[in-house]
Amino acid sequence: MSKSIPSFNDFFQVIENYVSSPKQNRGDVVKYYSPSEISQQINLQISENGEDLASLVEYAKKYLELSVNTGSKQFLNQLFSGFNFPAFFGEMVAASSNTTMATFEAAPVATEIERELIRLMNTYTGYENGDGIFLTGGSNSNLIAMFSARNRIFPEGRISGVDGNLKLKAFVNEQAHYSFDTAANLLGIGTENVVKVKADSQGRMIPSELERALEASINKGETPFFVAATCGTTMLGAFDPINKMVSICQKYNVWFHVDGAFGGSLILSPKYRHFFMGLEHADSFTWDAHKVMNIPLICSVILVKQAGTLHHNIVGANTDYLYHSNSVEEDLGEKSIQCGRRADAVKLWFSWKCYGKEGYAKRVENLMAMATHAEEIVKQTPKLELLVPRQSLNICFRYVPKVNVDLNKFNLTIRENLRKSGESIVNYGYIGETLAIRLVVSNGDMQKEDVEQFFQNFMSIANQVESNINE
Ligand SMILES: Cc1ncc(COP(=O)(O)O)c(C=O)c1O
Repeated sequence: MSKSIPSFNDFFQVIENYVSSPKQNRGDVVKYYSPSEISQQINLQISENGEDLASLVEYAKKYLELSVNTGSKQFLNQLFSGFNFPAFFGEMVAASSNTTMATFEAAPVATEIERELIRLMNTYTGYENGDGIFLTGGSNSNLIAMFSARNRIFPEGRISGVDGNLKLKAFVNEQAHYSFDTAANLLGIGTENVVKVKADSQGRMIPSELERALEASINKGETPFFVAATCGTTMLGAFDPINKMVSICQKYNVWFHVDGAFGGSLILSPKYRHFFMGLEHADSFTWDAHKVMNIPLICSVILVKQAGTLHHNIVGANTDYLYHSNSVEEDLGEKSIQCGRRADAVKLWFSWKCYGKEGYAKRVENLMAMATHAEEIVKQTPKLELLVPRQSLNICFRYVPKVNVDLNKFNLTIRENLRKSGESIVNYGYIGETLAIRLVVSNGDMQKEDVEQFFQNFMSIANQVESNINE
C-alpha cells in the first residue's frame, strides 16, 4: 500500500456525484449485470501486498456504478428506500468516532442521544415507564420481544434452559414476518410452536380466531406465552386490530408484542394514530427507522412498556472488566444481547433534529398520499387489477392482458424485464396462488410525478411483453 493518502475531497466528490445526480434521484436504478459479469467489472480479489490508497477512489466509483440506487425514487422494491442527507451525515459522524454503545465511558454523547430518542419514541407509544434499545433490525427486535416474553413466564429458563414440558406457544398473524419463526427456532421453542392465526381478506388478524386458538392451546395443556400483532404486514401493509387483541391478551395473561417494523413509523402523524389504538397496553413494540423514516440501514428499536424488562433478559456473567456501574452514568450494554454495538441512534437523531416532529409527520402523510395516488392509478388504468384494497403503503396489483395467458408467469416476466431495464424496480409476492406486483411507497421525498413515472415504465414494459405474445 502506498503511503500517499488522497485528499478527503477526492473521496467525497465521488459520493457527492453519486447522490446528487438527477439520475440518482429520479431514474436509472440499476445497470444490470449478472454475477459473473460483476466480477469482470471489478477486481474482487485481495492481493498479497495491498494496493495504492488512491485506487480506492476508482473502486468507490466502480462500486457505486454497479450498485442499486436505492435512493432513486424508482426504487420501489423493498420496505426501505430513499437518500436522507442528515441521516447520511450522522452516519459518517458516528463512524468517525467509531465507538461501542456498551458503556457511557466509551460513548458518552451517543449514550445520551440514544436515551433521549428512546424517551421520545416512548412518547409516541404511550409507555410512561418504558424503556428500549437500538438493535440490529426488526427481525432481532421481534426476537428480543419473544425472548423477554419467555423470560417473564419462565425466568429460570435463562439459567437452566428451556423446559420442553412447558409446551410454550406463540401466536402471530398467518401473514406475519418470518422472523417470529426464526426467533422461536433460536430460543429453543421451535417453529412448530408458532401458531399462525387466520387473517381476513385484507390480511388483518381475526381476533375471534386468536381467541379460539388460545383456548384450543390451553385445552391441550400447552402454555401460550406470546402474541404478536403486526402494524404493516410485509406483503399487504395490513394493520392488525391492536385494541381488540390487547383485551384478549389481558384475559389470557399473555405477553402482547406489536411488530411495527414497517408500518410503525405511521405513528408519527396524528392522522394515523387510529392504527395504534391500545398500543400503550402492549408489552413491546418493534420500530424500524431504516424503513419508513428513511434512515440508512440498520436503524431499529425495541421499545418495552416496563422499564427493567431488558435488564432482566441478561444474566450477568463476569463483566466487571467492562461495566463499572455508577449511579450517574448508564451503561446501555447491560440491557443488550450485544456487547459491541453501533451508535445507530446518532444518524436518526441527526435526521429527526433536521426534520423535527412536524416534518416527520408531514413525510409520512406524504407517503400515504403517494400510496393513495398509486392506488388510484391502478384503479383507473385499463388492464391493471388491484388485488387487495390498499391499507397503507403497499399496493398489490397485476396486469391482465387481452390474450389468455398464465397471469403469474406473465406478470413475473414484466417484473423481471422492468428490473433489468434499470428504469424502475418493484417487487412481487404471492397472495394465495396469485402472483401480485407489490409496489411499496416508502421514500418520503416521493412526488406524484415519481409515482406516474413508475406506471409509465411499468406499462411500457407490460405492453412490450403483451405484443411479443401476440406476434
Ligand atoms: C413486518 C415486518 N417485521 C419485521 C421485519 C424485519 O425487519 P428487518 O429487515 O429490519 O430485520 C420486516 C422486514 O421486512 C417486516 O416487514
